[in-house]
Amino acid sequence: MSKKFDVVVIGGGPGGYIAAIRAAQLGFNTACIDEWKNAAGGPAPGGTCTNVGCIPSKALLQSSEHYDHATHHFADHGISAKDVKMDVAKMVARKDGVVKQNNDGILYLLKKNKVSFFHGRGSFVAAKDGLYEIKVAGAAEEVIAAKHVIVATGSNPRALPGAAFDEENILSNDGALRLGAVPKKLGVIGSGVIGLEMGSVWRRLGAEVVILEALPAFLGAADEGVAKEALKVFTKQGLKIELGVKISDVKSGKKGVTVAYANAKGEAQELAVDKLIVSIGRVANTIGLNPDAVGLKLDERGAIVVDGDCKTNLSNVWAVGDVVRGPMLAHKAEEEGVAVAERIAGQHGHVNFNTIPYVIYTSPEIAWVGRTEQQLKADGVAYKAGQFPFLANGRARALGDTTGFVKILADAKTDEILGVHIIGPQASELIAEAVMAIEFRASAEDIARICHAHPSLSESTKEAALAVDKRTLNF
Ligand code: FAD
Ligand code: NAI
Repeated sequence: MSKKFDVVVIGGGPGGYIAAIRAAQLGFNTACIDEWKNAAGGPAPGGTCTNVGCIPSKALLQSSEHYDHATHHFADHGISAKDVKMDVAKMVARKDGVVKQNNDGILYLLKKNKVSFFHGRGSFVAAKDGLYEIKVAGAAEEVIAAKHVIVATGSNPRALPGAAFDEENILSNDGALRLGAVPKKLGVIGSGVIGLEMGSVWRRLGAEVVILEALPAFLGAADEGVAKEALKVFTKQGLKIELGVKISDVKSGKKGVTVAYANAKGEAQELAVDKLIVSIGRVANTIGLNPDAVGLKLDERGAIVVDGDCKTNLSNVWAVGDVVRGPMLAHKAEEEGVAVAERIAGQHGHVNFNTIPYVIYTSPEIAWVGRTEQQLKADGVAYKAGQFPFLANGRARALGDTTGFVKILADAKTDEILGVHIIGPQASELIAEAVMAIEFRASAEDIARICHAHPSLSESTKEAALAVDKRTLNF
């Protein structure tokens, strides 16, 4: 007789483990299956986000930023630090320690919430008598049964055709986060989020970084004003970004990697680098899930087909996070996980796709929520724009970090905030106020009338709201 659960979650990333905790909170007998292994072969729940994504990348971004400050910015504050040295092995070990703290934290949370954790690969076996049979293949093999299944199997990096990841020379996010030394010359294919974040880490540590991007426009998803400012700042920092390229060949050998490509003018070029990061997007992961055993429908790109409520084509089978449509973001996966658990409980779980914040953890950081100026123009929406530069913000001056601005877009008639776009210090934290404002359908005037602490970077948000009505006080 196999163990029976009300809810079985396959995948223990942010989508899966959060769904499992919420399901358990709602009184369901819940299991979570995750196959990620740590270096010792033990469980390492948390998925891409914890192991090779959000958390380790931010740990290395922080370490490399400290180094950058010590070597370039301390002097401005009257601090001289001679012989500043970096120890890449220690930085990477610290990052691994941060990852482990998070893995252990998730195991603790699952236990605390009485979620049964299975370490191994979960795959569908059959649907029988209103239950789904799921095989768990780990150190041992067993079959468990579930009334409801939540699939949260995440995504994998997309490889360039003909240039498989070897994690030695041709690196995915995984290899890019555990280089043993700073490469002299680093190539990056794709100027998306990973390319910019990982490119920034290794540039700050001394690598010469060249980023090759297929699209003619830089950061097309961001507001054009922000993208323009970002390109200017990143280029000044030393990132070489070439747009509109077409990669034709990648060769990896003992001496490194050679990339043959055509530039925007169609001229043949060759780039020789020590290491190459390929960050051209990710693909939904259903490897080993055996969806055919139960007839679970996938789309042409391999993602699980779901409706707006994360329901699949099978009754009581749900899917959340990177394995379904929508932005591949940890907080989106978490929100979907919570909403699905609540829907299973008969509640009205809800995810507002219009208020999902986007953040790029470069320096300056970039963050936005809602619609961009170019989207509003394309949609024919009449809007007002207000912008405030950090250059005019006292706290930013005190920090010595005055790059960028806050920009607020509001409906021309109703003043409702439609989009907020920030490039500058702590943009990742500042965006929370904007998310709340849009969620509560606030007007620009609402933010303008709220008392913001002085001196704080958030005063720039208030000033941008005042700028919507052309009445900034400090600019
Ligand atoms: P995942 O986190 O991929 O988790 C899926 C889990 O399921 C994995 O543990 C996997 O081993 C397991 N699994 C898969 N198949 C099976 C199976 N058959 N049986 C058992 N287990 C299985 N997002 C942000 O919001 N902010 C960031 O700063 C950010 N930074 C990132 C940096 C990098 C370098 C990368 C690569 C991604 C980053 N992301 C970030 C994206 C974020 O990591 C993903 O959106 C998020 O992890 C998706 O969560 P998920 O639960 O859907 O899938
Ligand atoms: P991405 O979608 O952000 O960027 C990929 C880039 O590669 C695009 O600009 C695309 O035009 C370009 N590209 C595609 N094919 C190419 C080719 N053949 N040659 C040259 N350029 C090409 O994907 P990325 O950076 O790989 O990240 C994957 C996912 O991880 C993203 O969806 C993102 O949401 C998530 N992520 C989120 C982070 C955050 O929230 N801070 C940080 C890192 C990743």
